[in-house]
Amino acid sequence: MKLNKNYSMLKENYLFAEVANRAKKFAEENPTAEIIKLGIGDVTLPICKAAVEAGKAASEEMGKAETFRGYGPYEGYEFLREKIAAYYARRGVKLDLNEIFVSEGAKNDVTGILDLFAVDNIVLAPDPVYPVYVDSNIMDGRKIIFANGNEQNGFLPLPDKKVKADIIYLCSPNNPTGAAYDKAGLKAWVDYANSLGAVILFDAAYEFFISDDRLPHSIYEIDGAKECAVEICSFSKTAGFTGVRLGYMIIPRRLAGGALNSMWLRRQSTKYNGASYIVQRMGEAVFCEEGMKQIKAGVAAYMKNAALMSDTLTKLGIWHTGGVNSPYIWLKCPGGDSWAFFDRLLSGAGIVGTPGAGFGKMGEGYFRLTAFNTFENTSKAMSRLEKLLK
Ligand code: MLT
Repeated sequence: MKLNKNYSMLKENYLFAEVANRAKKFAEENPTAEIIKLGIGDVTLPICKAAVEAGKAASEEMGKAETFRGYGPYEGYEFLREKIAAYYARRGVKLDLNEIFVSEGAKNDVTGILDLFAVDNIVLAPDPVYPVYVDSNIMDGRKIIFANGNEQNGFLPLPDKKVKADIIYLCSPNNPTGAAYDKAGLKAWVDYANSLGAVILFDAAYEFFISDDRLPHSIYEIDGAKECAVEICSFSKTAGFTGVRLGYMIIPRRLAGGALNSMWLRRQSTKYNGASYIVQRMGEAVFCEEGMKQIKAGVAAYMKNAALMSDTLTKLGIWHTGGVNSPYIWLKCPGGDSWAFFDRLLSGAGIVGTPGAGFGKMGEGYFRLTAFNTFENTSKAMSRLEKLLK
């Protein structure tokens, strides 16, 4: 057999695996250290009550012959897709049910959809960038170019018409920087993609964290987006589903004359048997009135952490962004080198964060903290940070 040589082009470890390894090594060498994790964007609040109850009821159904269900529909149960369509309709976005595909999370979708694209497409990704977009294209052997984010453009790069690309990644609110595009920014990308016949893979996993009413939550709030964009969303960060796994992808019928939509169904029916019935019922409950109230409260708790982190950094005179429409705070590293800052924070304050260098060349010199820990731990971490950097 022959191995996929593209893997040799990857960094040895996935970014968050590398962060976890280093934190583990530190913990083993310093068994009394009390480590606070503000690294990977994993949630700490439990699954919302409405979803827990729905999961219990669905388990009971599965345990009785009269209500037991086997394989579900490849594209997800209609009861959940209807709720997703209704959620979009509240923002004036009309979706047909056959444009919605339920999955086991955004990561599966954002990597799985690459099956539909030829290897000789040029991929354009922002830098800094969620490393999954880049690594999965390296694995396939696609050429990747970058749109640079920096302090001058608010980490919201706009398209350069001189540059040609076929597959464009956007994530807004952005992971890692927390910056979110306004409608004009997204319109520029939609127009650019349509002018090239390119596809935008729009990662909306953090849309629920947007607090500024003027900002778009979905790319389909922009005219022309249904002709060029796929949108991917997740229950992980809002409903606490990082360990449960549930997400969905929208593939409009108007995109590529319906080809991507039907190819995805063909792909899913071959490679995938759907998210479990129990989990889809839990997802359905998230969209009910009680569920929405509960996840709003959870997000508000995380945003309180973000505000505390932002206040602390302001007090310390450290440049930072994010945290207003996003659970991520993106800060400028005192001292510049982001892995050195990682070590300093870990050894000096027992805090695990994520070095900006792990998100690309433009991320070097910056650092990401997440607001997903508890308020107690976040407060403790911020006091330690103040002591360390004062
Ligand atoms: C992150 O920390 O960037 C995310 O947790 C990664 C993910 O959602 O896969």
